[in-house]
Amino acid sequence: MSLSAPELRARKRRLGAAPIVMVTAYDEPGARYVDAAGVDAILVGDSLANVVLGHADTLHVTVEEIAHHVRAVAAARPQAHLVADMPWLSYHLGVADAVRNAAILVRAGAQAVKLEGGRERVEVVRALLDAEIPVMGHVGLTPQSMLAFGGFKVQARTREAVDRLLEGAIAVQEAGAYAIVVEGVPGVVGTAVTEALEVPTIGIGAGPDTDGQVLVFHDLLGLSGRPTAKFVRTYADLGSAITEAVTHYRDDVREGRFPGPAETYATPAGLSE
Ligand code: KIV
Repeated sequence: MSLSAPELRARKRRLGAAPIVMVTAYDEPGARYVDAAGVDAILVGDSLANVVLGHADTLHVTVEEIAHHVRAVAAARPQAHLVADMPWLSYHLGVADAVRNAAILVRAGAQAVKLEGGRERVEVVRALLDAEIPVMGHVGLTPQSMLAFGGFKVQARTREAVDRLLEGAIAVQEAGAYAIVVEGVPGVVGTAVTEALEVPTIGIGAGPDTDGQVLVFHDLLGLSGRPTAKFVRTYADLGSAITEAVTHYRDDVREGRFPGPAETYATPAGLSE
């Protein structure tokens, strides 16, 4: 049985819980590998747009595309809690539309949905909970706001902005969110939000004091092929390993070393004379 939203909600570090480990995944093998590592939660993020579909931002991914990848991840039957991102414009056009879109993601296999924003999302969070769909919040550097922000910029750099962020995070919690991602804020702000909330915070570029951390699969594994943000730690260079292996294969084919006897079916008795 996968870790549930109420179980994740109980994972507050100040109550003695271990930090939550979340990572993104977008397909069945990826989900199988990260689940085998014992992570607590898998996010089918709208970062799908950047790291899998090659877009420059997350504004170009649809509910159907996310659902397609949620189905693939769910096929791995992970022990980890499975969250799906609600993409841009899937929860901005009214609560009925938001619930319908979230239901598509749940029917694809998600146990919960994540959406970006603060106080302005209270109504939609309540409507999703009325439909029995657990909601994870996301505040700070919300990538779906990149046009409004004028780029991907660290948020909450003034007293007023910190107060706004805190107020928004508390509003989303009061509306019923079971956990909140905090992205791209100074470490002290990650600490302050975590202290202010009863639900766990999951940080990405929010310092070491949040109740958990999340990283994007391709960034963590050296597969993104692009400069990573300051907050990323790259644990493997799988991109180079792939190119090296495929170069080796190319050379073997061109030099007649592949396939060899080990990769060739033996001659049947009836064909041997
Ligand atoms: O889409 C995503 O991958 C995310 C995480 C970075 C939190 O929202």
